[in-house]
Amino acid sequence: MQKAGELLRGGELVAFPTETVYGLGANGLDGEAAKKIYEAKGRPSDNPLILHVASLYQFKELSGKLSRSAILLAGEFWPGPMTLVVKKNKHIPDVVTAGLDTVAVRYPANRDAQELIRAAGVPIAAPSANLSGSPSPTNARDVLEDMEGRIAAILDGGGCSVGGESTIIDTTTNRVAILRPGGIPVEMVEGLLGAVQLDPALQGVEAAVPKAPGMKYRHYAPKAKVVLCQTFQEIGAAVRENRGKKRKIGVIAQKRVVGCFSRVYRDGAELAEKLFAFLRDLDRKQVEIIYVETVLETGIGLAVMNRLRKAAR
Ligand code: TXA
Ligand code: MG
Repeated sequence: MQKAGELLRGGELVAFPTETVYGLGANGLDGEAAKKIYEAKGRPSDNPLILHVASLYQFKELSGKLSRSAILLAGEFWPGPMTLVVKKNKHIPDVVTAGLDTVAVRYPANRDAQELIRAAGVPIAAPSANLSGSPSPTNARDVLEDMEGRIAAILDGGGCSVGGESTIIDTTTNRVAILRPGGIPVEMVEGLLGAVQLDPALQGVEAAVPKAPGMKYRHYAPKAKVVLCQTFQEIGAAVRENRGKKRKIGVIAQKRVVGCFSRVYRDGAELAEKLFAFLRDLDRKQVEIIYVETVLETGIGLAVMNRLRKAAR
């Protein structure tokens, strides 16, 4: 932990676990260090990073004036799988925020993440630790697959308990808006604040430009083609049809399917936790197509379906 903190302070990149996905960290107050993140990931420079903190005090130091909603949300859901977009203070380098006058901040619940932030002594700028466009890594092996030779170290904290990324909430507008569904369900946010806005781009409004710049990119995509199926029967039919063609097929569903690479989940929460690892794992088996049984878009299911639609595009 000490060594990882030193590397970060010295301007190097260190990947680390959070309860959502692994992050690719750099000193968030050092523009040169943050720049290395974009290089290592092949990330477009117009896509800002999240600053990770380990206390509410550190959060307040990074922000300008906070809205009442921001204070309520931070008090209720932090530490946890939620990112708040707030007005930034002037010490934050432009590379971190891609030139915006707002900054995204997250206080993760994962103990290793908190300890690392404290060891570094600075907020850690970190996107997910995957190459741009591929599924986010939820274990150290998946980070290594994308980042070997590109970064100084990986802090191995085992698997991520939530598995999907954090919910991103813009608190700088009159009405609070969800920019990316994630680990904290919209229903819980509304339980605290009343009705909130969903970014129109999330509801498939074609012309809408997403307010989280990263949401406009194709994302989360494995090498295999991803096909979404509403019922298990549909999957059965598709697998039978492909059998004659001698294709390698992957299936992610609530029941096991014989004669293909089958991965099983119980419910939306388990699919959220395992989806990215399943997609990477099926790519290693070199399947051509992955059929996925979809879940309802309530609770964590909204975040899961958002990722699946992008993967299937
Ligand atoms: O769970 C997570 O959020 C993980 C872990 C590592 O914390 N991080 C993560 O980072 O998913 P990344 O970079 O893959 O996604 C961050 C998203 C991007 O879509 C980016 O455009 C958006 O946050 N974002 C960052 N700063 C923003 C800002 N000031 N305003 C609006 N969107 C912002
Ligand atoms: Mg990402």
